Amino acid sequence: MGKVYNVSKNECLGLVVLAVSAVATIIGLSIAYDKQRAKNQGNPGDEADTSSTSVPLTTPFTPKEPWDYYRLPDSLIPGSYNVTLWPRLKPNADGMYIFTGHSAVVFRCEKKTDLIVIHANKLNFTTFLGNHAKLNGLGEAVAPAIVRTWLVVRTEYLVIQLSSKLTAGESYVLYTEFRGELADDLEGFYRSEYMDDGVKKVVATSQMQATYARKAFPCFDEPAMKAVFIVTIIHDRGTVALSNSKEMDSSNSTRDNVPVTVTTFEPTERMSTYLLAFIVCDFDSIQSDYSNLLIRIWAQRKAIGGGQGNYALNVTGPILQFYEKYYNTTYPLSKSDQIALPDFNAGAMENWGLVTYRETALLYDPMLSSTGNKERVVTVISHELAHMWFGNLVTLQWWNDLWLNEGFASYVEYLGVDYVEPTWKIKDHIILYDVQKVFAMDALASSHPLSRKEEEVTKPTEISEMFNTISYSKGAAVLRMLSEFLSEPVFAKGLSSYLNTFAFGNTVHTDLWDHLQQAVENTPNLHIPHNVHDIMNRWTLQMGFPVVTINTRTGRIDQKHFLLDSDSKVDRPSQFNYTWFVPIKWMKNGVDQQQYWLLKETDTHAPMRVSGDEWVLANTNVSGYFRVNYDVDNWGRLLSQLNTNHQVLSVMNRAQIIDDAFNLARAKIIPTTTALRTTEYLSKERDYIPWASTLRNLDYYVLMFDRTEVYGVLQAYLKKQIKPLFEYYGTLTANWTKIPAGHTDQYNQINAIRIACVVGVKGCRELINSWFRQWMENPDHNPIQPNLKGTVYCSAIALGGVEEWDFVWRMFQNTSLASEASRLRSAMACTKTPWLLNRYLAYTLDPTKIRKQDATSTIQYIAHNVVGMPLAWNFIRSKWSYIFEQYGRGSFSFSNLINGITLRFSTEFELQELKKFKEDNLHVGFGSATMALEQAIEKTAANIKWVFFRQGIVYSLSPGAHIAINLELNRITFG
Ligand SMILES: *[C@@H]1O[C@H](CO)[C@@H](O)[C@H](O)[C@H]1NC(C)=O
Ligand SMILES: *[C@@H]1O[C@H](CO)[C@@H](O)[C@H](O)[C@H]1NC(C)=O
Ligand SMILES: *[C@@H]1O[C@H](CO)[C@@H](O)[C@H](O)[C@H]1NC(C)=O
Ligand SMILES: [Zn+2]
Repeated sequence: MGKVYNVSKNECLGLVVLAVSAVATIIGLSIAYDKQRAKNQGNPGDEADTSSTSVPLTTPFTPKEPWDYYRLPDSLIPGSYNVTLWPRLKPNADGMYIFTGHSAVVFRCEKKTDLIVIHANKLNFTTFLGNHAKLNGLGEAVAPAIVRTWLVVRTEYLVIQLSSKLTAGESYVLYTEFRGELADDLEGFYRSEYMDDGVKKVVATSQMQATYARKAFPCFDEPAMKAVFIVTIIHDRGTVALSNSKEMDSSNSTRDNVPVTVTTFEPTERMSTYLLAFIVCDFDSIQSDYSNLLIRIWAQRKAIGGGQGNYALNVTGPILQFYEKYYNTTYPLSKSDQIALPDFNAGAMENWGLVTYRETALLYDPMLSSTGNKERVVTVISHELAHMWFGNLVTLQWWNDLWLNEGFASYVEYLGVDYVEPTWKIKDHIILYDVQKVFAMDALASSHPLSRKEEEVTKPTEISEMFNTISYSKGAAVLRMLSEFLSEPVFAKGLSSYLNTFAFGNTVHTDLWDHLQQAVENTPNLHIPHNVHDIMNRWTLQMGFPVVTINTRTGRIDQKHFLLDSDSKVDRPSQFNYTWFVPIKWMKNGVDQQQYWLLKETDTHAPMRVSGDEWVLANTNVSGYFRVNYDVDNWGRLLSQLNTNHQVLSVMNRAQIIDDAFNLARAKIIPTTTALRTTEYLSKERDYIPWASTLRNLDYYVLMFDRTEVYGVLQAYLKKQIKPLFEYYGTLTANWTKIPAGHTDQYNQINAIRIACVVGVKGCRELINSWFRQWMENPDHNPIQPNLKGTVYCSAIALGGVEEWDFVWRMFQNTSLASEASRLRSAMACTKTPWLLNRYLAYTLDPTKIRKQDATSTIQYIAHNVVGMPLAWNFIRSKWSYIFEQYGRGSFSFSNLINGITLRFSTEFELQELKKFKEDNLHVGFGSATMALEQAIEKTAANIKWVFFRQGIVYSLSPGAHIAINLELNRITFG
């Protein structure tokens, strides 16, 4: 799946909201409709399905029969399916939207058995002589009679008991007819709705990953059960039917007295069920023929008519061509369709040949969308297309290795974007959006290793929980490190050999290591200190990462597991004792030195001993997944280099110094003063990445202190630092009338305005208000530059009242551009008026006001607002069972909801409330947010300890006072 963030990455980064803007944070959304399981929880004998940490309510369930296990038995292997589906886009007499279908699956018996166990969920079957299926032998094989068939709700199976055993080596055909609901639950085969010139339109579409194909038709729904699919879709005349492969035949006929079109698709390649897609819609498309490959972009008619699909169409061909070269493997299919859906749970989904997107992730309007929207579109496309090979052509055996699939796509997406937008320097951004982001989560004692054991991930909620920041961003960071120390050509060579060897098959992650190791061995003069397996195991099999400390006086280097709260207890043992093989790229006085490998806990590397005003900077460009600390003197020399001429260091290195210092300070390894001093030079900084890093780190201070006296001091300091940047952009844009030329300059302009307005730099709020006023006076003409809209809307709402809010609400309902709707939706959470926030919270439960796909992110936006936080927390607590039932299985959304709400928690009282919330709702469960809740408890405890030092921060920020103050001292003084 695509990474799920919902505001453009760049627009929300460092969206330090101080008091004013309450937007922020990256949100995932995914919506689940898990009535079935909520019901099951009451059943005696049921396994408490909620989490590994919650107390089982009933006696633990011991699986005995094959259908008691979540994993399929290995006796039967599917070969091909003929699937026919007929979605009804109008409700039936009971007001229900349904689909009907039939399927014939050919499977081979590997081990003799008298039982057929196949996945099926929420399907009603036609019975033949009382059974849910018919069975025939293929060729010479004679099928035994069916004795009995039944459905198992907990493990989502259709089970068929036979009178005698199937013969190993023979093939059989299982035929079923079924009927399901085309619900608005965003899972399996579901429906999406939108208004087209006042007329309600319905789309039938699908989301199979991870375990929802079984909700569309009975299937062996595991990624290694690859098969060929021959799909037929019956649909209303005049509508379009799409699936993974090219349409082969389309004819008009009549079914049940209804005039319909029957569209048949070419047989697919051998593929996994989670990559299937079926769509019926009334969309329009644009297409091109790129090196003989049919590329189409589909969306609502008015979006295509308005040219919103053009950018996607233009970049798709070149990105596919880039990957063909990079992987050294041709695109395996005969067409590439991409479609923007009004209701969609993730950001995008890499269905093979028919990629599905949120509208905001595929559509771009050059006049009305922001640069951030554009970057998001091309990034998500690049991510999904990377999966066409890595993930789709070669698929991981099981979900425990999901990190490799998602981490890989999250890494190479930057390479694909760089190919089509070479001026953006997009590859630098990985340190903001992945590396630094995941450092924050992976520094908790409650983190977890990238790689899981296969048997630890079996239930659907456990599979959903794998779609998290660790899998995506740590996966990307660790693979980038690997590619850096092998060098890109060697990495690509190993990769291509892996893809060609396992095409149309399945692998485990060590298969990739094998092929990379071969590539290393075939490269003369490439030396790595251990083989790829041994190096990578330390990064993937144990959680966390090291902080490497370099003493430049002695040349001594050591590593230690980095924990945000050094007192926290690590319960999870590691076979490597939390030490790593660390590749260290480094420089001395701005000159790159030869890479050094730290292979033990402590070592000495003489070249790192320096004197005079020489300085050492290690982990250049954050190419390794670790943090760096130095002796006090080297810190001092780095700071003075920043203050005298910061451009000697690359933007990535500047951002790294800031981010490492702030986090080392949070872990109480260095004084907070040192961290704050890395921001002194910012009055001269014009580049985006260092500013973004700073704002993200200061955001933590804001979250901790915006309810305390420290806040005033912090605001005054920021005002001093941001003012030159604000004035710089005023000049650069001829008094805010032009758009800066550079890609990242456009982002930094947003930072400049946002922060300047929040802290009250003279002229800023007046500027924003005048733009917004003009718009309110003439709603058909929005004079605000698209890049700045998000900031302007939020500030105007925060400073305004009900009139501004209602105006934005009207604009939200009227806009036909998805990215604009998303900006307006997040801006409405910026109000300071409690009743408006409460009314907005209530809207999130009404799908006619806020789409279900947007509900959890909206609650999160509100929680990020200092006024909204307690309101959102009360809201969540009072409606937990309902919210759980609606969204509890969602991949990112649900855990982000907990993260978002607890972001500010830093008092003993809040910790107790959180623990009580956990206790009170054990019977309901926390679904895919189980891990997030544990992390929230740990983070709150760490925050409590850290905030204890706040007095020191006041002094550190006060002009002149910072020199002498050391927080370790304050602990004694003020404790
Ligand atoms: C599946 O459909 C194909 C093409 O229509 C047909 O040749 C084949 O016999 C069907 N297989 C089964 C098992 O029904
Ligand atoms: C399936 O059967 C159940 C129980 O009879 C019924 O409530 C449900 O509406 C049926 N679903 C469909 C799609 O017909
Ligand atoms: C089927 O019917 C539709 C609408 O009546 C028409 O537009 C289409 O051309 C017909 N298709 C075929 C293959 O006859
Ligand atoms: Zn993905």
